[in-house]
Amino acid sequence: MTQIEDTILKEKTTNTPIWLMRQAGRYLPEFRKIRKLNPDFINLCLNENLSSEITLQPLKRFNLDAAIIFSDILMVPYGLNQAVEFKKNFGPKLGFLDLKELSQIDEIDFLKKLYPIYKSIKKVNDNSLIKNKNVIGFVGAPWTLLVYMINKHSPKKNLIKEFFKDKFLINRILIILEKFLKIHIKHQIKNGASIIQIFDSWAGLLEEKDLPSYVYVPTLNLVNYIKSLNVPSVCFPRGIKDYKTFCEIVKPNAVNIDYNVDPVLILKNIKIPVQGGLDPKILLTDKENLKKEALKYLNIFKDHPYIFNLGHGVIPETDPNMVDYLVKTVKDY
Ligand code: CP3
Repeated sequence: MTQIEDTILKEKTTNTPIWLMRQAGRYLPEFRKIRKLNPDFINLCLNENLSSEITLQPLKRFNLDAAIIFSDILMVPYGLNQAVEFKKNFGPKLGFLDLKELSQIDEIDFLKKLYPIYKSIKKVNDNSLIKNKNVIGFVGAPWTLLVYMINKHSPKKNLIKEFFKDKFLINRILIILEKFLKIHIKHQIKNGASIIQIFDSWAGLLEEKDLPSYVYVPTLNLVNYIKSLNVPSVCFPRGIKDYKTFCEIVKPNAVNIDYNVDPVLILKNIKIPVQGGLDPKILLTDKENLKKEALKYLNIFKDHPYIFNLGHGVIPETDPNMVDYLVKTVKDY
């Protein structure tokens, strides 16, 4: 068993493992070099040689316990034939949503489009750097994907006004997403992903009354599916505030917390293994402060199964030496 599996499945509380969301990304000069030569982000994700190399870049530098596959949650809408592009200084931009076309997609066409992702996972899994470590596969949660597919770009703080107007459209998309997210999960696992993380980045946009239909139930369906494949799942319902109710209903194997929740309250209320929490902005400060903040999380969770991670992804302006220092701080604890 890997250290992360010990923490999640055996609830071990010693040797805290660590990996970081967006650990392969723009803060690494070796990533920027490849990115510069590959201005089309989607094509980069679909190049199995480069995406597997990028996935392994942080493991060559740091003593991390997992690799997360270099891809994106929006590869699923792309696989469903909605146009997706990543514009510099703007973020993702999605195209027209044609429900008729979406309803006609079959599994074979979808898999054909995303096939390089699975090949990339296999390549990563076959690399010696992964020995005794996990390859983390992931999907966006149905709610967060729905937000991007209807909103067409990052909602930042608010959804468009008429977001909930077309309930028929919403329900059809949720059904289609459930089917294809399961297919995407199954093929990631088949090719070597040994943990699946579900990113619900926009869970915090919903009012409490809407959480059951858009977050709890659709996520529970995926978590149960992942369980049926005997693979641990980690959920990240970012900004949800009430992590306790989420965990009690959805029952993932572990939960990633954001940096706006009080870790002391999480410790008190959450029974399952916890991951993450540290504000990625702390990595932009200095080593002394980074150590202090990292130790805060390590001390709070010292008797609770805990995987060290951040409360959101590594920021592009981060100095790789700070990441190195963080990994060493956790490993020396
Ligand atoms: O964690 C990892 O390193 C694995 C790879 C990964 C990426 N995106 C690579 C990426 C993962 C797990 C994601 C998830 C993702 N993508 C989420 C959920 C987590 C979160 O951030 O809330 C979301 C909402 C997206 C959608 C997305 N992709 C956005 C909003 C952006 C633009 C913002 C940005 O940072 O540029 C992306 C692009 C993206 N995805 C990049 C990377 C490394 C940056 C691409 C670049 O180099 O320009």
